[in-house]
Amino acid sequence: MLPAPVLPRLLRVLRLSDGQRVLVRPVRPRDTAVLQAYVRALSPSSRYNRFFGPVPELPPAELDRVLHLDGRNQLALIAQTCGNGSSSVVAEARYALAPDGLDCEFALSVADDFRHKGLGMQLLAEIECRARALGTRRLVGDVTIRCTRSSGKRALP
Ligand SMILES: CC(C)(COP(=O)(O)OP(=O)(O)OC[C@H]1O[C@@H](n2cnc3c(N)ncnc32)[C@H](O)[C@@H]1OP(=O)(O)O)[C@@H](O)C(=O)NCCC(=O)NCCS
Repeated sequence: MLPAPVLPRLLRVLRLSDGQRVLVRPVRPRDTAVLQAYVRALSPSSRYNRFFGPVPELPPAELDRVLHLDGRNQLALIAQTCGNGSSSVVAEARYALAPDGLDCEFALSVADDFRHKGLGMQLLAEIECRARALGTRRLVGDVTIRCTRSSGKRALP
């Protein structure tokens, strides 16, 4: 679980290309229900591309891992809509530093209704920024063969 003083540094408000704002914050243990609701609401092909299989929701072991990352070398973020009382999760992203400290593996997804508004790129930029601060040389992301436009390794300048 993240220590309380770490949290403010990890909060961001991002502006999407349609003017909407979303709050990006670390996933916390109490987020089980909202995270699972988000994953269940993704289209089957999005879930497949993100989790590499036909999963209806996060398997318990995976969920437990996501909820208890160390917040520095491994971090999970969610983006949620702001304002008007209700809020829903519209994206999630994760990274994990490899044991050698050189590679940083990432994965992300954006809710189908929030695609093509720049959220994915902004979340990736967040991860890139954090990875660089940790001294990582490369961001590495696995993708399915159907999603090869985003495949490969990206060297950090
Ligand atoms: C990939 C994904 C995160 C992009 O999110 P997004 O918020 O729509 O991304 P942005 O709006 O910031 O950028 C979109 C741009 O990224 C590029 N892009 C989108 N999907 C892409 C893909 N699969 N591969 C490469 N580039 C892609 C395009 O250039 C696109 O530009 P466009 O909007 O003009 O078409 C989203 O499509 C998604 O959640 N997909 C399902 C899960 C997944 O495949 N995750 C990646 C593997 S872990």
